[in-house]
Amino acid sequence: MTVEQAWIDRAAGLLRGIKRLAVLTGAGISKESGIPTFRDAMEGMWARYNPQELATPGAFERSPKRVWNWYAHRREMLAEAAPNPSHYALAEMEAHIPEVVVITQNVDGLHRAAGSTDVIELHGNLSRVKCLDHCRGNPTHIALEDALPPENAGEEDETPPRCPHCGAYLRPDVVWFGEMLPPGALERAAQVSRAAEVMLVVGTSGVVQPAASMPLWAARAGARLIDVNPNPDAISGSADVFLQGQAGKVLPRVVAAL
Ligand code: OAD
Repeated sequence: MTVEQAWIDRAAGLLRGIKRLAVLTGAGISKESGIPTFRDAMEGMWARYNPQELATPGAFERSPKRVWNWYAHRREMLAEAAPNPSHYALAEMEAHIPEVVVITQNVDGLHRAAGSTDVIELHGNLSRVKCLDHCRGNPTHIALEDALPPENAGEEDETPPRCPHCGAYLRPDVVWFGEMLPPGALERAAQVSRAAEVMLVVGTSGVVQPAASMPLWAARAGARLIDVNPNPDAISGSADVFLQGQAGKVLPRVVAAL
């Protein structure tokens, strides 16, 4: 589906001349980099599991192997992934707008890889792991090469590696349902949302809090909303401009029209 040029121009018109842009991104922006979204149907052996049921402290407690291996699987996918044109287009916006802050729910690090300089990672980062017991303070990050190998290393269903300091399991440094966001991330994201003249929302279903509220905070403080998604999402209805298309196709056109 191709977004009409008039809508692209309307979005560019809202962005032209502003000083502060907040961008809120979700899994959809990385889809064209080959990373499945959370609410897509899963493939292969993971088709039996609901990602939302794996992303909880209780799931790790009940089945550390399964949860560790699900994230290991995502980490492997990520190793082969590169930013796509939408990540680069957002980085390029910094050449046009003085203050561009990307608030992302993604844990893939692709915004920074594309050159965005101010990124708030609301849900952590998949490339880092930490001690489950926070043995040297919260978070205690551990480089994977320093980890104690799992007791069943080499088997298909490995248990998580262990902390070299205390022997507890290691876990990904991502936020699970029911956990607090990284210290300071929510406060800064709220402040950036309220200060923005425009909020550009890209590739999120808009159903997971607190990220889902950020466009409302921005709009209530007077910001215009632009939403980019091939499917209507929870934000599309209240957006000033809804660009119904794939981020990798739409965002480079918006930047070109600036
Ligand atoms: P979702 O999987 O809920 O939504 C992805 C959105 O991307 C959907 O609305 C799709 O229509 C849209 N989409 C698909 N392809 C796209 C494309 N090429 N361009 C633009 N949009 C596209 O992902 P999130 O909204 O990010 O949290 O999910 C939010 C949080 O829920 C995640 O961070 C994760 C998850 O459970 C935790 O793990 C804590």
